[in-house]
Amino acid sequence: MRGPDEFGLSTLAIRTGHNRTAEGEHGEPIFTTSSYVFGSAREAAARFAGDEPGNIYSRFTNPTVGAFEERLAAMEGGECCVATASGMSAILTLCMGLLKAGEHIVSSRSIFGSTTILFNKYLTRFGIETSYVSLADLDAWKEAIGPATRLLFVETPSNPLTEMADIRTLADLAHSRDCLLVVDNCFCTPALQRPLALGADLVMHSATKYLDGQGRCVGGAVVGDRKLVGEEVFGVMRTAGPTMSPFNAWVFLKGLETLELRMLAHARNALALASWLREQPCVTRVHYPGLESHPQHHLVGTQQRTGGGIVAFEVRGGREGAWRVVDSTRMLSITANLGDTKTTITHPATTTHGRLTPEERETAGISEGLIRIAVGLEDVEDVQKDLVRGVATL
Ligand SMILES: Cc1ncc(COP(=O)(O)O)c(C=O)c1O
Repeated sequence: MRGPDEFGLSTLAIRTGHNRTAEGEHGEPIFTTSSYVFGSAREAAARFAGDEPGNIYSRFTNPTVGAFEERLAAMEGGECCVATASGMSAILTLCMGLLKAGEHIVSSRSIFGSTTILFNKYLTRFGIETSYVSLADLDAWKEAIGPATRLLFVETPSNPLTEMADIRTLADLAHSRDCLLVVDNCFCTPALQRPLALGADLVMHSATKYLDGQGRCVGGAVVGDRKLVGEEVFGVMRTAGPTMSPFNAWVFLKGLETLELRMLAHARNALALASWLREQPCVTRVHYPGLESHPQHHLVGTQQRTGGGIVAFEVRGGREGAWRVVDSTRMLSITANLGDTKTTITHPATTTHGRLTPEERETAGISEGLIRIAVGLEDVEDVQKDLVRGVATL
């Protein structure tokens, strides 16, 4: 398979990365091997020295993991991909590969909680500081960048309020100040948004979410160019070994094959649900990029193909009202995960954002009455029926 300009996204997702073996298998095999046999001492030496391509040891070379990396890189339009054991290890590997003591990150405030803890509690131990800004406030990004800033980090759309950053504008800002832009593309996936084509330098994923799509495995990935990812990030992977298992890589390979179909169906269901929620008297606000009322709706259809699969809404009655809606469901899964065929429902103020102070939650816009739904692929009328039981009582 060649570049993304020559094939459609689903073709890349189905056909890239599988180098058929002498067995002639049609499906991608799982290579459950930790090491590889060399034909001679000379061949072993050449592989270790990097003078010849080929497998060495599965901490950093495995054909099934390699197939996943090649496929995701093609879908994101990147030169290289490094697969990791989880989304969090993707961020850690990326930071270890690209930053050193004394350097600085500017990050959007609305990012996954563990990412904040990684930045604040652990990277600080190695002399790397992080400042936080509101994702849509360009002046705040500009002000926060200093001489030591090396990375701008953004998750767009944000969790759970689905605020969107303008990737192209942030990429231009990053480059004008000698920084790199990293986008966590977990919510959209390359089926809906391709940050590298908009100027971002690196994309990272929690493959655990939509890339798998059925809640089976934990994994992650970093995508970018040959220098940043193929050398710097890969170097940390080779040495430190936060490696994706071949089995997980195989599950993600299969997940990628249906990614575009699934993401479009998630978004169709999410738009229908968001439109329905807007009509409910007890719902005071709906956050969904696909609705015209969303502050960055203009980025849907340009930066981001659809509104995506995540809907957040606020109900009357604060925490009590929100908990009543959550507890009245019988089909929806009460869980903080997302990106599954099964619809999940979460009360952010007491789960994903429960460790923030009330003031921090208020600044982040996480009210007590806020509910997040990661809309799955069930019949959306059944999701509505499950919600109306609680919604109708408020
Ligand atoms: C946006 C985002 N980024 C990163 C992560 C971390 O991924 P993982 O759980 O695979 O380590 C998550 C997990 O929920 C997430 O939602």
